[in-house]
Amino acid sequence: METDQRRLRSLKGLKWSKYGSDVIPAWVADMDFAPSPDVVSAVQEMVDLGDFGYRFHDADQLIPAWCDWVGNSHGWRPPDDECQVFTSSMQALEAVMVLHSQPGDGVVLFSPIYMPFRTAIEQAGRRVIDVQLEAPNWVFDGERFRDALDPKTRVVLFCQPHNPTGHIYTQEEIDDFAEVVEEHDLLVVSDEIWADLTFSGSRHLSLSSSNEKLRDRTVTVGSASKAFNLAGARCCVAHMGPAEVRSELQKYPDHYFGIPSSFGSAVTVAAWTAGKPWLQKAKEQIEWNRDYIHRRIIEESSGLTMRLPEATYLAWMDFSDTALSDNPSKELLDRARIALEPGEKFGDQCGSFARMNFATSMDIVETLVDRIFETLNS
Ligand SMILES: Cc1ncc(COP(=O)(O)O)c(C=O)c1O
Repeated sequence: METDQRRLRSLKGLKWSKYGSDVIPAWVADMDFAPSPDVVSAVQEMVDLGDFGYRFHDADQLIPAWCDWVGNSHGWRPPDDECQVFTSSMQALEAVMVLHSQPGDGVVLFSPIYMPFRTAIEQAGRRVIDVQLEAPNWVFDGERFRDALDPKTRVVLFCQPHNPTGHIYTQEEIDDFAEVVEEHDLLVVSDEIWADLTFSGSRHLSLSSSNEKLRDRTVTVGSASKAFNLAGARCCVAHMGPAEVRSELQKYPDHYFGIPSSFGSAVTVAAWTAGKPWLQKAKEQIEWNRDYIHRRIIEESSGLTMRLPEATYLAWMDFSDTALSDNPSKELLDRARIALEPGEKFGDQCGSFARMNFATSMDIVETLVDRIFETLNS
């Protein structure tokens, strides 16, 4: 995969522009790979034609393109007429959460978790019900989930595969989860935007298709933003499993939620219809990187540990038994000039963790790992 450092340093995206040129950024979840040629041609064609007017050609294809992609990749095809387009995964998640709850109602998340989930609940005036997952395996605990619920809990925000741990919840965990969801009549928003980034030997299990009890209770959120590195496209498709959510959404006028731009739609449709070979190469590189990081951590035996993720391109590193346990990402930024995400952003219990994005070249991964161990050993 091409990762020209000069190109990376001149990008205006958050990842490479936030820190100075001596810092290697491995924080926000963008990849460093040059995009798929099919994605580039989709937008190039619009530029060449100067085709910047009302153009809904690709926006109209978003739903069938996603449904086909999910059908071919994950073994269930969401019905087109139960899907809706949004301008980001977070928009879909927030819209459904707000429609299906009242201020003061409880909304569950399982921490550590992608930090905007918590902000979304708080900003909407809902109550965060934080069901903490436990190190080192971060598996789902049905009893803990059940005990945390009260009669005013309405919605669960789920993330499969899970950011930041890279865990794919197993069939057994999903079945336990479904029991409690049914018992308490909850609506599930399942953010599955990492579904395409699984490693060999692991398979994404979509909640909606993995358990009958969840089918009509789950909103599944999909996007090309992670697998194809298209966060700038502002584009998302969601399957509305519950009929009442579909009819609630239909009460809103056409432009209320907005639709993605022609640019975002064009690149997203190109990714889902022609991007598979590029994705395969990206996954091979990411898997090599994951195995390299994991191997180095074992070989160095410095106290640093990392659970081998089944999906994503995120290394969820535990510095508890190292000299950097107090605030690893700050220490590593100050001393090693590498930018990781602080663990505490994902959960109160994770102050000794840091999340490292490894969707980059072998060279950069090696440098990141070298700098971590140099700091740990100094
Ligand atoms: C689990 C998860 N959900 C949502 C998002 C944000 O997606 P979007 O930019 O489409 O809102 C991210 C970004 O990394 C993520 O990891």
